[in-house]
Amino acid sequence: MNRKQLVVGNWKMNGSLSDNEALLVGLSAADDLSGLDVSVCVPYLYLAQTREHLAAGNISWGGQNVSEHDAGAYTGEISGSMLADFEVSFGLVGHSERRSFYAETNELVGIKARKLLSVGITPIVCVGETLKQREAEETFGIISAQLEAVIEQIGLENLGRLVLAYEPVWAIGTGLTASPEQAQEVHEYLREQVALLDEAAASSLRILYGGSVKPDNAEKLFRQADVDGGLIGGASLNLIDFLTICRLAI
Ligand code: 13P
Repeated sequence: MNRKQLVVGNWKMNGSLSDNEALLVGLSAADDLSGLDVSVCVPYLYLAQTREHLAAGNISWGGQNVSEHDAGAYTGEISGSMLADFEVSFGLVGHSERRSFYAETNELVGIKARKLLSVGITPIVCVGETLKQREAEETFGIISAQLEAVIEQIGLENLGRLVLAYEPVWAIGTGLTASPEQAQEVHEYLREQVALLDEAAASSLRILYGGSVKPDNAEKLFRQADVDGGLIGGASLNLIDFLTICRLAI
């Protein structure tokens, strides 16, 4: 298997025009990241600024959400075609913060993934269990249901167009990280689930790990056979940390 690693920064609801400037200038100046795909998912308002800085280089950019509707009377929402206008490569769907704070269901996440694909944007589908679910040994059941709902919406023919991100809810922003072994176990399971449906899609599928990835724990996580990169929250807001994490994935 020769899957190129992908490291994606998720800025969440952070940033300002002036703070972003330094981050984007620093990212676009990094010239040693070939052999790796790097992307940053930024708040919608900063897509134009991000595109301006990154368009000439190899770092791509993405959105953090998308509407389940195509257009119309949905005040405050952003459609897939609007994201496509800003040439985004990726869109996050199913992030645990969207699932828990905005009551996004598995079905809605699947619809959003479908909307992104319909405009040529790669969905990064986030799945993950809560601590309670892990302790009740429900991890595999939970993430299978999350994945199945997406496949139901996008169809088997589009399995090869997804990126998956395993983000255990208990590890997000908590400083607790899944151990490399825990991450590998779930990633392997996810790949096996996809392989049951489409072996070719499974072997090229990129499965990112997210949840308190930092410069001091990234290397061991990235060395796991089924960990194909990272989805980085807090550490993506610090240029040095994010670039260090990226370099550990090469
Ligand atoms: P942290 O890296 O801050 O734990 O966030 C992970 C995450 O949610 C990325 O999408």
